[in-house]
Amino acid sequence: MQKVLILDLGGQYGQILARRVREEHVFCEVRLASNVDMEQIRAFQPVGILLAGGPQWQRVDPEVLRCGVPVLGIGGGCLAMVEALGGEVAQTQRIYGRMLMNLEEDAVLFAGMPPITIGWMDQLETIQRLPEGAAATASSQVCQIAAFSCPERQLYGTLFHPEAGHTEGGSRMLGRFLKEICGASEDWTMENIIDMAVADARQRIGGRKVLLALSGGVDSSVVGGLLSRAVGDQLTCIFVDHGMLRKGEGDEVEAIFSRIDTNFIRVNAAERFAKRLAGVTDSEEKRRIVGEEFVQVFQEEAKKLGGVDFLAQGTIYPDIMESGGGYADVLQSHREMRDLPEHLDFKELIEPLRLLFKDEVRKVGRTMGLPEFLVDRQPFPGPGLAIRIVGEITPEKLETLRSADHIFTSELEKAHLHQHTAQYFAVLTDTVLSHGGKERYVLALRAVSTDDFSTAKWARIPYELLDKISDRLCREVPGIDRVVYDITNKPPATIEWA
Ligand code: XMP
Repeated sequence: MQKVLILDLGGQYGQILARRVREEHVFCEVRLASNVDMEQIRAFQPVGILLAGGPQWQRVDPEVLRCGVPVLGIGGGCLAMVEALGGEVAQTQRIYGRMLMNLEEDAVLFAGMPPITIGWMDQLETIQRLPEGAAATASSQVCQIAAFSCPERQLYGTLFHPEAGHTEGGSRMLGRFLKEICGASEDWTMENIIDMAVADARQRIGGRKVLLALSGGVDSSVVGGLLSRAVGDQLTCIFVDHGMLRKGEGDEVEAIFSRIDTNFIRVNAAERFAKRLAGVTDSEEKRRIVGEEFVQVFQEEAKKLGGVDFLAQGTIYPDIMESGGGYADVLQSHREMRDLPEHLDFKELIEPLRLLFKDEVRKVGRTMGLPEFLVDRQPFPGPGLAIRIVGEITPEKLETLRSADHIFTSELEKAHLHQHTAQYFAVLTDTVLSHGGKERYVLALRAVSTDDFSTAKWARIPYELLDKISDRLCREVPGIDRVVYDITNKPPATIEWA
């Protein structure tokens, strides 16, 4: 498959650019420029290189610009190219506001394109003098040289960011660079991704056995689907039901995976977990206990099965990519599942999703026919409801929270608000109010919108819907007669309450 290399010169621009390139159906990988040398770049055999950089960019090795494939520098990457080619970069004022770019009609990068409009530029530097042999190809009212090219050397640069959501016409320009200039083929399609992952797993696993810890979350479910297609019943999925799941969740996961061609084992370990969590009020302690017990249960089951050759994991690209920031900083998926490899005796790790972004994982799942509710599922912490009950966990509290959470989530889903809400759930607080001689809990509702879970905004749920939800909760869930809605962003708060 043809590959494009994104060299990240600093500023976390690599990840978003990579997603845009893949949306053009071209495969790419991101490397930190400071971590790779020319030998590694050549060994990667890219058909084109993108230099990604923000206001803080680092120099680029001029050799990169001589390696015989087209190079496009963006933002700081464009400035690094100008400098490496002997041009001059100068400080400027920060430039804000919508801007129409005047494009040179006969510039290869922009041929046949309507004008590009950008929302803002965040460069603190600008191009003072172009290198020899380079020509300006775009300008705006406030920026004389907003893009340049040396077509005979296949070098291009734009100060504006085509990958940014506010740049109209940006994807078209990026697509032109990838397909017309680099000649990249559009082979990064869902069908190809699935075929490649299945073929690769089949070849590596051969006739041996593979074990997967299934959480019911998107990543491990998609791994389950892929490996079942690849090696059928050589795969065993172990699903540890720790009793801290949402309403109906365990049965749903079981229903789906019992139908496909794998060995599916559901371990009903609720009692074990409940026993160990009894009387524990501190959330970090709860996390530790759930993690430890999970590994223990899993180990016991794995031992029963005998020698395992492969352990499968739902590692995704942001977990391993070099470009800092973004999702990579937030382990949203089940953290204890990531501890498993340390505790199990197996020969190799198999990670079929390691090159995919989260949205690609969802698309793969959908293309393979996994049900929508599984593929679209919001992140759910490994310790589950244990950290959504403030204070001590009791069977009654678990039941109360499960019913309340179900009412809240199903009302949001009925109103189609879940599509714009990344995570939404109920929290059972430890505030107890006495009412009519009976003790009742205060229930908190939390709903946030976020792209990357490292920051989040509380979701603007219409008052009418909140009213209906609160009404239902107080009427239908025994033990609750007060409901509050959490209106704290992250930061300063976290998404979970603990
Ligand atoms: P916070 O609360 O840190 O959450 O803003 C960010 C994301 O991480 C999830 N989260 C967890 N996931 N084990 C997990 O597997 C945990 O202990 C845990 N705590 C938080 C949270 O649901 C959100 O998606």
